[in-house]
Parts: sequence; C-alpha cells; structure tokens
Amino acid sequence: MKIAVAKGDGIGPEIMDAVLKVFTAATIPLEYDFVEMGKWVFDKGFSNGMTPAAQLTIENLGILFKGPMETPKGKGVKSVNVTARKTWNTYANKRVFQTLHGVETVFSKAGIPIDVTVVRENIEDTYGGIEHMLTHDVALSRRFITRPGSMQVIKYAFEMAKKKNAKRITCGHKANIMKITDGLFLDCFYEVAKEYPELKADDVIVDDLCLKLVTRPDKFDVVVLTNLQGDIVSDLCAGLVGGLGFAPSANIGDHICIFEAVHGTAPDIAGKNIANPTALLLSGVAMIRHVGFMENAAIIENALLYTLESGVHTGDFGDTTRPAVNTTEFANIIISNFGKTPIVNAKPLLPNMPVTPTIFKLEKNPMLVSKEMEDEHIVGVDMFIESAEQPEMIAHKCQRHGGVKFKLVNVSNRGTQVWPTGSLFTNLVNQYNTRFESLDGSALNQQDIIGLYVSLSGDFKICSLELLNSWGDKKAYSLAQGQ
Ligand code: NAI
Repeated sequence: MKIAVAKGDGIGPEIMDAVLKVFTAATIPLEYDFVEMGKWVFDKGFSNGMTPAAQLTIENLGILFKGPMETPKGKGVKSVNVTARKTWNTYANKRVFQTLHGVETVFSKAGIPIDVTVVRENIEDTYGGIEHMLTHDVALSRRFITRPGSMQVIKYAFEMAKKKNAKRITCGHKANIMKITDGLFLDCFYEVAKEYPELKADDVIVDDLCLKLVTRPDKFDVVVLTNLQGDIVSDLCAGLVGGLGFAPSANIGDHICIFEAVHGTAPDIAGKNIANPTALLLSGVAMIRHVGFMENAAIIENALLYTLESGVHTGDFGDTTRPAVNTTEFANIIISNFGKTPIVNAKPLLPNMPVTPTIFKLEKNPMLVSKEMEDEHIVGVDMFIESAEQPEMIAHKCQRHGGVKFKLVNVSNRGTQVWPTGSLFTNLVNQYNTRFESLDGSALNQQDIIGLYVSLSGDFKICSLELLNSWGDKKAYSLAQGQ
C-alpha cells in the first residue's frame, strides 16, 4: 500500500523523519511517495503551494500524511493546508483530545479524565476566505454555511460517535446571534440526530461551551462545530490535555483523507531537533488504523503511552527536574518500547486487516444539492452603498429611487438600524445597507432589481447587493438590529 507524504516546513521534516522511523521499525508494509508541498513550493513559483505532480499523486493514492506547512505572510497567497482540505473536500476534521498518563495537566492532577473528540467542519465558513474592502474603511468577509456541507460533517460526527460508543454528542454554535448561518447548521444537527436515538444529542452556545470545557471537560464526549469555532475550541481542548504537542487530527473526505498534527511549523524551535513528535505520531497511528493495520497501530500507540508514562519527555512538557530528550531520542525510545504495555489505556492488539485502496476516477465534480424549497420568490433587495452622509439624507435620496416597484424599508449601518428609527448614539461608518422591499408585496424579478440598481447608482456607489428571498411566508434573511 502506498501513501503520499509531505514533510512540511519548520519542525515538519524533523518530526516526520522521527515518525517514519517509528513506522519503519514497526515493519508496516507501507510505501511512501514524497510529494512537493509547502512554503518552499510557493517559493518555487507554484501559487497554491503544491506542484501539479503532487496533486496528481495525492488524487491517485487517496491518502496524504503531512507535516505542518507555513503560509507565507503577505497578500495573494492562501494557506496550502486549507487549500488541500478544501480542494479534496475533506469535510470533517476529527481531533481527538485524551488524557495521556504521564503528561501532567491541572485535570490529571485533579483526577478528571478527558476524552473529547472535536469534529470541525473543514470546508466552509469564513475559511472560504472570500473577502473584499467595500470602502476604504469597511472590509467584508463572506461566511458560507451550506445545508449539504453541514449534513456531510454532521453525519460523519454521528456515525463516528456511534462507532466510538459515545454517550453524548454536542453541537457548538452561535445560532442565537447568527440565526441563519449557525441556525442552519443547528437545524441539520437535530435533523441527523433523529436517526441516532441511542445518542444523547444536545447543543451549547460556543462561548458557554468554552467555559464548560475548561471547568468540566469530562462531561463532553463528541463535539461538532462549524469551521472557525471548531478551530478555536480544538486549540482550547489541546490545552486541556497538555498542549499542541499532543493534538492529532484527521481530515476525512469521501475520496481523499489527510492526516496531520493540529499544530503549526513552530518556527521558534525549528531546526533544533527538540520538537515533540507525539501529535504527528498519533495522527500517523490514526492513519495506519484507517488503512487497516490495527495491530501495528496498537503496538506503536502502546509503546508511545508506555514511554510517556515512564516520564520520558521532550522540552515542551513533563517533569522539568528530569532532562528532556530530543526528537530523535524520543522516537528511538518509543521503538525500544515496542511490545511493552502501558498501565493506563492500553490498546488491544486487534488483527491487521489491510483495506484495499480504492482508486477514484471522477469524470466530473460531485454536485451537492438538496431538495429545493417550495414557493421561493424575491421580495426585495439589500443595496450596500458607500456614503458618509447622515441616515435621514440617505433615506431621502433612496426613497426617490423606489419608483412603482419598491419601498425603502430601513437603513442600517454595521447591522444596526439607523432609519426610520434609531439613536444618535450609534456610531456610523461610510457604508450603509439600504433595504428595499416590494411596494405592494408582489414578487419581484431580477430585472426589477437591476432597474433599481441603475437608478440608485445615480446617487451612490453601490458596493454590493443581496437579494431578499422568501419561501412562502418564511423570510430567508435576517432583520437589522433594532428593526
Ligand atoms: P504553532 O503551532 O506552530 O506554534 C505555537 C506554539 O506551540 C509555539 O510556541 C511552538 O513552539 C509550540 N509547538 C507547536 N508544535 C510543537 C511541537 N510539536 N513540539 C513542541 N512545541 C510545539 O503555531 P503558530 O506559531 O501560530 O504558526 C506557525 C506557522 O504554522 C504559521 O505559518 C501557520 O500558518 C502554520 N500553521 C500550520 C498548520 C498546519 O500545517 N496544519 C496549523 C497551524 C499553523
């Protein structure tokens, strides 16, 4: 069986070499195809951080084991880590945070065991990176949450929770504020939950979730979140179990899976051979289990757990009165501990059952579309305009453009209504949302919207627009604060 390997930047090559040394010593029948990805590939002129040959190899092999990669600072270059996850639709990012015996934390000292799996949506949200300056003062980020994308990751989370014999699955969200986007994610969560009556499914607002995780992490089992919130919550969970050096992750898709540590390239310690390879090793163990080498995975994991229990540590954790070992020494000690069993959480030696690799030859991009809503029609438009005038003047000018089709419903600034009612204490920026709705309630068409756009553009620069859709009586858009 062959997998693609990219060593990465910073500490990537050091920890990857250490992990592959452990795999080789464990005689896992895996071949590695080393591919060109990372900062140095950007530097060679490949704007997405990987060569076309690397892309082809990964698409043919279906599995990428990667070290952390640096995103060059400055405009115009996107993170190759995010590009990889998005390009290959690895929609679920599974991150496992477990108490490791020998890694002292406030919770281990208090005798509170932690076993939390965070499933983070991996494609959508603000990670679309679709951002624009609307005026010289106002930046906009578009946040996509889709029904099919949410269903993919939530279904994965429930299925994984069932296999793990989890008791509880929790949706973290901010649907009290982002009622439409996080509201959609939450609706999908409870829709899928109906198919898993044996699991206790509940939801917690993300700020409360952070508080609860840092006070009683043992109450949680599987947590599923949207992309950005999942990113933040999973670093919080890494802190609970001893730091980023212990946080593995798997990016799961239907065709391609990527295994990597949660942490980055650690430029502050790169090139010193002192980094902790545990997170990458645990990610690699998850990968070899994924391809069916169960016994090899258990032998390696038991040796790692035994090593940690015996007090061996790299410089980022452990008993500071005992000297730290370096990355290579840490790997060598793990190898010397093959066959040993940790006192706590020993893994059973299940037989190897290698999975036959599936070669996917796709002829077109898969299209994810759910059932259309009935009675969908356009009822208005939000015109985002640039202006440094006062709300009364904006409204006065806008009303002149409504014609026979539109009425101006309200004017808002940074999401707060400032006309027809508002407060003089609301600070303004030079970008307003002017909301127009159908004058007599009848459905509008795109030509009507363009007519309004042309008319309004006589008075204002229109930065962007959003159609106001309605499904039957249900409005598919949010109200302004105070509307
Ligand atoms: P980072 O995770 O690289 O480092 C944060 C802190 O944790 C540093 O003090 C570092 O020394 C320490 N640390 C991280 N991994 C460690 C390990 N294995 N052993 C011991 N200490 C470790 O985060 P930072 O500094 O924000 O990002 C550095 C670069 O990494 C950036 O270019 C970022 O874009 C990239 N990055 C890449 C990721 C990936 O490839 N999946 C994920 C996160 C960041």
